[in-house]
Amino acid sequence: MTKIAVWCRHQGDNVIGIGPNIPWHIPSDFKRFRRLTEGQTLIAGQTTYESFPNRTLPNRKILVLTFNPDYELSDTENHQVITDIKYFKEAEGNFYISGGASIYKAFFAGGSKLMPDIIVDSMYCGKINPDLKGVPVDISPCIESMNKNYRQISQDYELDNVITTVHIRKGEFVDQDVLKHIIESIEAKD
Ligand SMILES: NC(=O)c1ccc[n+]([C@@H]2O[C@H](COP(=O)([O-])OP(=O)(O)OC[C@H]3O[C@@H](n4cnc5c(N)ncnc54)[C@H](OP(=O)(O)O)[C@@H]3O)[C@@H](O)[C@H]2O)c1
Repeated sequence: MTKIAVWCRHQGDNVIGIGPNIPWHIPSDFKRFRRLTEGQTLIAGQTTYESFPNRTLPNRKILVLTFNPDYELSDTENHQVITDIKYFKEAEGNFYISGGASIYKAFFAGGSKLMPDIIVDSMYCGKINPDLKGVPVDISPCIESMNKNYRQISQDYELDNVITTVHIRKGEFVDQDVLKHIIESIEAKD
């Protein structure tokens, strides 16, 4: 099993959202996320799942974390409710942890069996949309853990004011096929 955390955070304050929204719009960042995750299995918190258009993302399986076992999914064939994060300690397969903040934090705080093996860290260096109302949501504890427990294994990829880097856990082996897929997805141009 390989767990990959994927996010785009704001430089300096590590904000990833204001209320339910991502406070920037960078089409190339969405495209990179699509290339990374198409054909893959995503993990999303219930709030993030609700923010996807029509509560879905085409060509992906989505595992929705919620404490509500009766939560109604938009697509019962491709989506599944998971009520206990411990499920991911032993599950088979590759999982792209796609937010939001409470989900990233739960994986990073969950001990060695839950911590992501790989992080795709995108950092937006522009200004946050000042018109958005709501509480800023940040992932600073995850960034502190990344700086302490992971090492950068890629170059800095810079595109449209976003710098993307790939990190792996110090002292751990990672699946080379997964790593190759990640690097190819970042480097692809469409
Ligand atoms: N910039 C980025 O890369 C990025 C990516 C994704 C999201 N975001 C942003 O992040 C923000 C949302 O983050 P958030 O922290 O508010 O919400 P969230 O993590 O998406 O979802 C929170 C919900 O997940 C469920 N949950 C949380 N921990 C759980 C656990 N351990 N076990 C089972 N279920 C659990 C709970 O659902 P129930 O209440 O149903 O029990 C909780 O209310 C939004 O602004 C969104 O736009 C940004």
